[in-house]
Amino acid sequence: MTERDRLSFVLHGAVVYSKDKDEMNCFEDAYAVCKDGISEGVFTKLPEEYKELPLIETGGQLIIPGFTDLHIHAPQFQFRGNGMDIELLPWLETYTFPEEAKYSDLSYAEKAYRLFTEELINGATVRASVFATSHRGATLRLMEMLEESGLVTFVGKVNMDRNVPDYYVEDTEGSLSETEKWLNEAAKKGFSRTRPIITPRFTPSCSRELMTGLSELAERYAAPVQSHLSENLSEIKWVSELEPDTSSYADSYVKAGILKKSIPCIMAHCVWSEEEEQEILLENNVFIAHSPDSNTNLSSGAAPVKKYLEKGMNVGLATDVAGGHSASMINAVRSAIRVSKLRNRLFDRDTKALTFPEAFYMATKGGGAFFGKAGSFDKGYSFDALILDDMRIPTTREDLSAMERAERFIYLGDDRYISGKIVAGKRIR
Ligand code: GUN
Ligand code: FE
Repeated sequence: MTERDRLSFVLHGAVVYSKDKDEMNCFEDAYAVCKDGISEGVFTKLPEEYKELPLIETGGQLIIPGFTDLHIHAPQFQFRGNGMDIELLPWLETYTFPEEAKYSDLSYAEKAYRLFTEELINGATVRASVFATSHRGATLRLMEMLEESGLVTFVGKVNMDRNVPDYYVEDTEGSLSETEKWLNEAAKKGFSRTRPIITPRFTPSCSRELMTGLSELAERYAAPVQSHLSENLSEIKWVSELEPDTSSYADSYVKAGILKKSIPCIMAHCVWSEEEEQEILLENNVFIAHSPDSNTNLSSGAAPVKKYLEKGMNVGLATDVAGGHSASMINAVRSAIRVSKLRNRLFDRDTKALTFPEAFYMATKGGGAFFGKAGSFDKGYSFDALILDDMRIPTTREDLSAMERAERFIYLGDDRYISGKIVAGKRIR
């Protein structure tokens, strides 16, 4: 057995993780114990019972839980950083649909998804909920690559049967039958870290009939659901025209039977969700995927996530590549704080800015909760860790606390400072 195959070990270094949204557990010198891939907790003095386990000495490096990217589009990775000149709806037509249509070609998908997977392996993301395209073959190939990477992911074949160009649209029947085939094929692969998630793109591109059919599949196959909600003002107006019997955008998902308590669900953005919609999200335990970089790049707005957190809603962070320009969750944490400050300063004095502990919490335990016990070193949590060589970021200050080091890493760090990465107890780099 090589060091990489071990699922039980002790990591020694400085340790920082969230207790809850307001408080951090910070240790300048501690031992994080992983047994069979599960955390046993963090100790300042290593208990006798763990002394037999192999000790990984980091030399004082910083150990934090890895980040969960709650919403990312794998096929959009190839045009990230371009096409930031227009808002959501024309952006989809001009940049997104033409690129996603290319994934009917498996050899293109192979090349493109390889680059995407490598970026996630090298970055700070340990778990992700991923949109693929409508193509069953390419989506399965992406799932195989992600399974091999060691990351833990949900991956969705996208569904769309209206308001999408002819070269990319599906018919209702075909969309449902391809989805069911894909669910069966994915089950046969026997993946241990990669699970399917039902993925109606958003209400404008999915008829009520398609959405209802998808909700039946979600229940029959015990699969969760992901989609987009209240991202952009033109989109919201369009939904009210397309679905006149609904009282809010979220209600279009409720009426189709896809947003309900029995189906775990991630909704990306919720920038403009009003009281009624917030109640629907809260009652149904929906996870909000907040993507500050996407919100700013596509001029969507600045979601009031602080308010959502205070209301006890489930909120995680997301890159939303390619609405978000970067697949780096380090950027997402930093941007969440900065965008919340602009919202507060410029137009919403009642919604306070996010604190560093809150943003860190959303990127770890907040979003991680969609996967079960993930995003913490508390006993019983899946052991996902980043080992950070953060003191290579130049400073004369050798007396930084563990908390100051974590904050400084978020503001100044990038993938180059990640010296080790462990997902569900398995070392993947
Ligand atoms: N709404 C529907 N599709 C998309 C997408 O691909 N990206 C974003 N940001 N919003 C969407
Ligand atoms: Fe998105």
